Parts: sequence; C-alpha cells; structure tokens
Amino acid sequence: MTVLAEHDPLHLDPSGRDHHGEAACLREAGPVTRVILPGGVPAWAVTRHDELRDLVRDPRVSKDWRRWSAVTNNLLPENWSLTGVVKVTNMFSADGEQHRRLRTAVTNALTPQSVRALQPRLDEIVATLVRDLPRNISEDGSVDLCRYFANPLPLNVICELLGVPEYLHSRIRDLTASVFDHTIQGDQVNNTQKEILRTMAELVTYRSDNHGKDLTSSLIVTRRENPELLTEEELYSTLWLVASAGHETTRNLLVNAVRALLKHPGQLAMAREGATGTWEAVVEETLRWDGPVGNILTRVALVDITIADVTIPAGEAIVAPYSAVGRDPLKYGEDAERFDITRKDKKHMAFGGGPHFCVGALLARREAVTALPALMCAYPHMRLAVDDTAPKPLPSMLSNSVMELPVHLMP
Ligand code: HEM
Repeated sequence: MTVLAEHDPLHLDPSGRDHHGEAACLREAGPVTRVILPGGVPAWAVTRHDELRDLVRDPRVSKDWRRWSAVTNNLLPENWSLTGVVKVTNMFSADGEQHRRLRTAVTNALTPQSVRALQPRLDEIVATLVRDLPRNISEDGSVDLCRYFANPLPLNVICELLGVPEYLHSRIRDLTASVFDHTIQGDQVNNTQKEILRTMAELVTYRSDNHGKDLTSSLIVTRRENPELLTEEELYSTLWLVASAGHETTRNLLVNAVRALLKHPGQLAMAREGATGTWEAVVEETLRWDGPVGNILTRVALVDITIADVTIPAGEAIVAPYSAVGRDPLKYGEDAERFDITRKDKKHMAFGGGPHFCVGALLARREAVTALPALMCAYPHMRLAVDDTAPKPLPSMLSNSVMELPVHLMP
C-alpha cells in the first residue's frame, strides 16, 4: 500500500535560494516524503541520515535512470533542466558488473599513491594562487575568492589528472556551470549537451595525438585494446563526469569552508593555531554542515520499498538530500545546525555511500587540507567584504555554494 504524506509535496527549488531552509522543510516532512523536481516531475526524498545510509546500499534500488517510470512512459519534459545530471552513460548511472567495469577504469587513477603523487603539483598550484590573490584586487579593494582561488584550484588539478590542454580549461569550467544551473531551459540545455560532447571529443583527439601519463590517455588505451570494456559514448561520458564532478564540488567545499570560518572567528583561530588534525576537522565539519552537494536525484526503486511506514512504489525516483541529512538532529543531536570543528561525530554522507561512494573523496580532501591552511594563514586579516547573506547562491538544486565570495585580504 502506498501511504502518501498528508502535506503537499515540497517543490525543490532549481535556483537553490535557500538549501538549508529547504533541507529543514524536508526533514520536517518526515523520513520519506514526496517532492516535486524542477519541471513539475514527481519523486521521493529520504531525508534522514540513517535511512539514507541504508538506502544507498540497498540492492533494491538502481542507479539507472532508464528504469524510472517517468522515462519509460516518456513523461520527462523536453530539454529538462536536470538532463545533464541525470541522463548520463557512465558509472554514475550503472549497476552491478557494468558499474564495476566503468568505475575501475577511473579508480586506478585515484588510488592513495596516485593522489600522493599529485601533491607537489597541488602545492605549486595552491602557492601560485595564494601569491597572486593581491594582484586580482578590484577597485573597491575586495577580491573574489571564487574566481581567483576556489574555482581555478580544483579545475587545474582535475585538468592535470585528465591531461586537459590549457585551451580547454575555461570551456570545461563554463560547461560545468551550465550543467549545474537548473534554471536554464530549452535550447540552452540541448546546446550544452552538444558542446560537452564536442569538447570531450576534442580532448580525446588531442590525447590520441599527444599520449601522456594522464587518465584520458589511459582510457584511450583501454578502449583501443578492449573496445567492449569502454564504448565511445561511455568514454566521453566518463571523462565529462570526472572533469565536472571533480572540480565543481571541491570548489564548493573550499568556498563553504572559508565562509564558515570567517563567520566563526573562534574556530578559525583554533584552526590557525595548527594543532594536529584541526584542518582535517574543518574540512569534515564543512562537508557535514554545508556540503557541496545539496539534492541529488540518483536512485530508482526496483520494487516497492517501505521505509518508516511509507512505501515508495517500484519504478519511482528517489532524491538523496545530502544537505538535509548533514544536519539531521537524530544523528548529530540538538546542535546539528551548529558549525563546530570539535564535534565528536565526524561521520557524514557528503560523499554518498555504498558502491557509488565518491571516487574523488581522497583527492578532494587532500586539495582542501592543502589549500585552506595555505590561504587562511597567508592572509590572517582576511574578512568578508560584504554581509554574509549578500553572496548569491549558485542557481542549482544540486550544487550548494555561492557564486562569488568577495573578501578583503588586508586589515
Ligand atoms: C560520486 C560528492 C569530489 C568524482 C559522488 C557522490 C557524492 C559526491 C555525494 C555520490 C552521489 C550519489 O549519491 O549517487 C563529492 C563531493 C566532492 C567530490 C562533496 C568534493 C568535496 C569529487 C572529485 C572527483 C569526483 C574530486 C573526481 C576526481 C565522482 C565520481 C562519482 C562521484 C566519478 C560517481 C561514483 C560512482 O557512481 O560510482 N561524489 N564529490 N568527486 N564523485 Fe564525487
């Protein structure tokens, strides 16, 4: 039996105006609730930490959007604004053996050893960006940390890992912003998808002619030697997944951490003192309290699934609301809304869980624990140049951060 919630389903906001207000409403609606996605598409959300932790490991859910009844019944709007984050052909939308095949091709490049090997280059990128910040101060005396630090840092790192030539960096940055912008409509959705395909094809052509030690070159070899291991569509889609997921999220982590620290000077002072593990604690608490990923539509019920007395019918889609579970009082207690780097329970779901746990978690954490102390210790008088509520949020249901973060570097 399907038990529908008594209240009207919550419409998830494509413009991301208030991720945490929305997250509180989701928790308030109960452990499992109906939601309406942008474009008027119905789905479900599992809003509590423990229930979501179990769901992402549950073999009764699929990651394959093709199994969603709205897809098989052709009910999704044309040029849907979530197309770029749902209708993909890579590990993100694969189950079982197919998932393992597509994931292994990438995880080989993200082992602890490969991430450690990136450290010298990471240090160099961070040092250059930190040093150059004063050169980018605008006429009003502020500098935008998003544009001149948090964006280029993970973009450069992921492009290094993928062997993306410099002339494609800004195109990848702009296309990523477009895919995560859920307010875009119509032809713009379609054009973004075509441009992504063109750009990934250009990357593959470049690396076929200039073979290197990067992930793109290694995937090209895999496909050449074993075409059934990686189709052309899977190759382009995998490269795009790593390029986009590999920098937008880490950008948000850096921005949200700086914002949280500037709002909580006592905790910033504690981190600056540099006791072992405090920058790691800043990173983990930011991931929990203001994680880079808000609401992500990722799973389809294969059979009727009952959670906390509510049945999600087979064929329906489920949203993982990571912002809501990050502040779940049942998991983190009455002070779940408080940013506290000394919090004992450091476990969170910001990187997902189960077989689809983020492949880039190690790299993202390494980038953040390298970048944050370098930045915050180089500019001990840094402060926000605007009121904390002024920065505009990213126009996204999924990507949780702000578009700009103007700060003053000097007193
Ligand atoms: C998957 C978050 C950084 C690549 C995921 C998922 C989450 C996530 C929540 C699972 C989504 C789901 O529920 O289905 C984050 C956060 C990051 C980050 C918060 C930064 C702070 C990265 C980086 C890379 C990356 C740096 C690439 C190097 C991926 C890939 C998947 C994934 C390929 C799909 C894994 C699979 O389906 O098996 N990430 N991510 N992510 N992430 Fe990340």
